[in-house]
Parts: sequence; structure tokens; C-alpha cells
Amino acid sequence: MRDIGQTALMRVVFATAELSPVATVGGLAAAAAGLSAELRRLGVNVDLVMPDYGGISLIDETVTTLDVPAWVGAALVRSGRHPEVGPLHLISVPGMARSHPYLDADGRGWVDNDERFFRFSRAIAAFVEADPPDILHLNDWHTGAALAALESPPPTVVSIHNLAYQGVAGPEWLDVIGPNAEHYEWWGDTNPLSGALALADRIVAVSPHYVTEITTPEGGFGLDAALRARGDALVGILNGIDTDVWNPADNPLLVQNFDAKTLTQRPANRTALLERLGLPDDDVPLATIVTRLTHQKGVDLITPLIPLLADIPMRLGILGSGDAALAAELHRLVAAHPEHLAFVEGYDEALSQQMFAGGDLFLMPSRFEPCGLTQMQAMRYGAIPVVTAVGGLVDTVPDVDAAERSDRPTAGRGFVARSGEPTDLLAAMFRAGRRVTDRRRRAALQKRIMTVDWSWREPAKRYRDLYVELQR
Ligand code: ADP
Ligand code: GLC
Repeated sequence: MRDIGQTALMRVVFATAELSPVATVGGLAAAAAGLSAELRRLGVNVDLVMPDYGGISLIDETVTTLDVPAWVGAALVRSGRHPEVGPLHLISVPGMARSHPYLDADGRGWVDNDERFFRFSRAIAAFVEADPPDILHLNDWHTGAALAALESPPPTVVSIHNLAYQGVAGPEWLDVIGPNAEHYEWWGDTNPLSGALALADRIVAVSPHYVTEITTPEGGFGLDAALRARGDALVGILNGIDTDVWNPADNPLLVQNFDAKTLTQRPANRTALLERLGLPDDDVPLATIVTRLTHQKGVDLITPLIPLLADIPMRLGILGSGDAALAAELHRLVAAHPEHLAFVEGYDEALSQQMFAGGDLFLMPSRFEPCGLTQMQAMRYGAIPVVTAVGGLVDTVPDVDAAERSDRPTAGRGFVARSGEPTDLLAAMFRAGRRVTDRRRRAALQKRIMTVDWSWREPAKRYRDLYVELQR
């Protein structure tokens, strides 16, 4: 039912560099798409604004010119309807249209990324000035400099999806980005995120535990003091996932659909996955990893444990792309341990769903994790997570054994490694392996994790409430 309260006429400009399925690099794309769609369902009028990377068709398109300073160059907005996203605005500025939003063919950042996203941010400001919304919602550093240019901005929310990326650029930008540039000065350079964090009315980190991490020197990537200074303006709201897309009951990519009540149907997916991965089909627990291969995700923390898989025992299937040296190392390890390790190099949404549906366990050894969507996707498909105790993993995966020893024995959802140290990861993998070989206890845990509401419904209401609060 539509909410016809205060939100009925509320208009929000929601700006993001990624949006599923139009331009996807990581979780930002899924989060921006999931949240904006749910806000629209709640009756919020969301103007979705993203860069025009080229090759994107809209239905009933109109083109308008934005009024921007000369350094930006020609800035146009193509507005129309995208078949999957709905109403969408694509901002075109010089240098934006590229084969990948951020990276060249060798996987290096485009040398002019600073220029591209300062121009994009300036164009967002012009878009807002032309028709001021009730709320401006910015996401990550790519959009942060919009607030440098706005002299009387609407109430503004900035979401931090990943503080590790800040887009720091040279000091020369301070002279051009706008009247509020002083807030963007950062150790002699220009930091598109620092200014946004100073000027926003509310800052949302994508999980409550991430708030506690980014306000410490260890987890703050240099911005912890700035974040602490914002006090109650910084809040944590856990992301959701699109539970219509991530639905094992009617996903056509699975060899056998199932839900929490028909768990006995699930093993057909396991058999198919083992075959696809070239691993033996027996009772040895099967764990999977689906990830970008980057330092953050900690796959290199698992590689020293690969020779021990036979002893745990456990088999592991990894799907991932990114760091070439790590990928080469994984290929080498497969050659040495073909019975226990499989590695598919790439980004493959169909295979990712099959891995969540077929694996007994899902490993996520992240060094840090602002929220993490894959552990929720895995749980929705009945794969039990084994995680490190960081960021959103703390909020979404209470440890099963610790819960059973507490006064909330059924609160557990997975197995938590105390740290990313090999011995701690190994201990969590051992505990997890033991649990999944006990069929009755495994089924009870699977039912529990599959029936948690992982959707955007509650998180979107929290954002909506925040917007309403800022309007007062
Ligand atoms: P991050 O954004 O830090 O990479 P998240 O867990 O928030 O991590 O989101 C990652 C998203 O990308 C999820 O939707 C996940 O399913 C998807 N994904 C990551 N790696 C792969 C891959 N190799 N193949 C297919 N999908 C992937
Ligand atoms: C970033 C973070 C990830 C989070 C995603 C969506 O990519 O790395 O943890 O889930 O943004 O907010």
C-alpha cells in the first residue's frame, strides 16, 4: 500500500555512480537500485541521477542542458524511463562515457577520474539548482563535491558505502569546485568525501557496526576525527537485498527451486554445482566464495589454509575477479589441490546464484566490510556464512556457538572468526564443517537464516523517516 503521509509529495534527488543493472561494479550498484526502488514503493518521488557512461537507452527520452561553469564543459541530462529501473536521469559531462565506470582495460583507474567525477558532482549541483528537491541524497565520494557548489543546498544525506575510497585529488581543485571548497581541503589536497561529510545534514554508514569502526583511528581511513565531530548526525542503517531477484523459490537459474519448507529439494543444486566445479560429489562440506579479488575481501587470508582443506575436511569453490596476482595464485593452488579447490575467474551472476544455492557454507574472510551483501544473499539461499567479525558482518551474522551458550540460543546465523589470522579462520571453518555434517542441526540453522527478512523494506523506511525528519 502506498504511504500517503508526509512522503506523498516528497521529492528526493538520489545521486550514485553505480546502479544495477545499468552500471555495476560492486555492492553500491545493488544498494542504490534496491533502496531507490523500495523508496518509490513507499511513495517517495525519487529522481535517480547517475553518470552517462554511454550505450544506455532510455524510453521517451528528453535532453536538457545544465547551467554549469566553463571548467565542467558541456553538461547534459538525458531523462527518460529505463526498462528495468524506471525513471532515470543520465548526466553526461566530458570524459564520462567509458567502457568501465572507473577502470581502464588493464584494471587501472582512469587517469582523469578526479576530473570526471568533479564534473559529474558539479552537474548534480546544477541539476539540484534548476529544480530544488526536498532532499538531496549523495552516495560515496563520486558525488561528494556537489555540496561544494551549492550555496543553499536542500537538506542532504550522504551515504558511506566504503570509506576506503575517497577520490583524493590535487589541491588545484579547491580553486574550482565552488564556494564551500574550504571544507574539502585535506592535508593540502582535495578530498571529495571529507567536505561532504562536513556539510551533510545526516551521514549514513551502511551498517551500525561500521559506524563504530569508522569513528576509530584504525577504521577511519583518516576521516575518523571528522566523523566523530559529527556526533549524532552519523547513523548506521543496514543495507537490504532485492528479495525478488534473490529468491531460491522461483529463480530460473537453479536446477531445482526450493524454500525453507522444501529444503530437501536443495541438494540437487549442490550436485549440479559440484559437477560444474569439477569437484567430487560426497558428504564433505562444500564452501563457496563469491567476491571481488581485492585486499578488502581477504581471499589471500584463506590461501594458506588451502593445503589443510583435506584435513578439515572441506571443499572450496571460489568465484572471483580482480587482483591478477591473487588469481594466478588461486590457479596454482587448484593445480596442487584439485580435489578440494575449484576456482572460476570472472564476474558471473548466474554462477554466483548457483554457488549460493549449492554450497553448504559461504566464506567471507573480509579485512573490513562496510555492510556486505553476499552474506545476506548466501543466507537467503540457505548457505551458512563463515565470516570475520567486521562491519556489517557483525550485524548480520551472530555466531551460532556463542549464541547457544547465551540466553538467546537461537540468535546464531553462522560462524565468526575472531580475526583474520589463519588459526582463527581455521577454527571457524572447523566449527562450521562439524555443524553441517549434523543434518538435523544444519537444517534448523538453514531454515532460520532463510526466513530472516533481508529485504529493503525496513531499511528503506528508516531512510524515509530520516528524510521526513530533515524536512521539518
Ligand atoms: P562489494 O561491494 O564490497 O564488492 P558486496 O557484498 O556489498 O561487496 O556486494 C558485492 C555484489 O557483487 C553482490 O551483489 C555479489 O553477489 C556481487 N559479486 C561480487 N563478486 C562477484 C562475482 N565474482 N561474480 C558475480 N557476482 C559477484
Ligand atoms: C561497498 C562495500 C560493501 C557494501 C556495499 C553496498 O561496496 O564494500 O560492504 O555492502 O558498498 O553498500
